[in-house]
Amino acid sequence: MAEDEPNNGTPGSQSGPYQGPRAADFTPEPDHSDDPGYVTRTRFLSNAAFAGTGVLAAAILVPVVGFAVASPLQGEDYRWVDIGPASDYLKNPPPYPNPTPSTKIGEVASLAVSGPSSDADRRIYVVYGLKDPTTRPQPTPGQPAAEFEAQFAKWASSLRADDFDLIAIWNRCAHLGCPVAYSPGSAGYVCPCHGGAYDSRGLVTGGPPPRPLDRVDIKIVDQSKKFEPQDVEAGKDRIPLAVAAKSNNPNLRVLVGKPYSIDQQQQSFPLSGPGEPVSGTLSHLYPFQ
Ligand code: FES
Repeated sequence: MAEDEPNNGTPGSQSGPYQGPRAADFTPEPDHSDDPGYVTRTRFLSNAAFAGTGVLAAAILVPVVGFAVASPLQGEDYRWVDIGPASDYLKNPPPYPNPTPSTKIGEVASLAVSGPSSDADRRIYVVYGLKDPTTRPQPTPGQPAAEFEAQFAKWASSLRADDFDLIAIWNRCAHLGCPVAYSPGSAGYVCPCHGGAYDSRGLVTGGPPPRPLDRVDIKIVDQSKKFEPQDVEAGKDRIPLAVAAKSNNPNLRVLVGKPYSIDQQQQSFPLSGPGEPVSGTLSHLYPFQ
């Protein structure tokens, strides 16, 4: 019978002497698991995973950390820019003759100022007005007009030159950098992007901006006088505002220079980018807030 026939060893045959590898011929692979210098497949894959994770972490962290530390370190070249005669800006100098509640106290001029590079071109608002506009009396509901006028006249007569200053406000919104515009009706600045609102001195009154509008250094000089660079650096060329306001000297000019940031208390800080708080707890957390 077929089941009993011996295997003749021909290919495809199911019977006959086995000619494949035998257990006795098997040579086991050497075990390198205890050899730290030998790279097994598992070790290679583990190292590759670690390296990939490191590259990913660096790709995320390097820009974030760089963004956090680079801005304060970056200086900006600047130069003083002559923006015109002082008489153009020092209108209605105090004390005012016969002031009334409708007297405009403080002027706001808007002009484009070219910076040292096209990236630094900016529009500024030059404000000559009260350091603290909130001191200006407001009529209370139902207050007789004559009584308020007397109150206003008393306040106006108490004003001194030191109650006024001249500031230059950069129109770059402190939230995300949109250009703000001065609104005479509200005597403040409004941002068209997200509703940021600022008062006449650029202090935040509403919306998302984390700090007031940045300012630009401003000074009044007598262009007929020459100063050494170190004296200009020391501010010896600056004409006091109170002196300039009373002067008819046609040589007095207004110059604007280096931008800087402020907080709500109007303390000065190095120029920061949009969205960056400059004081308080959040300033330490930025950009991780
Ligand atoms: S950019 Fe001005 S409020 Fe957002």
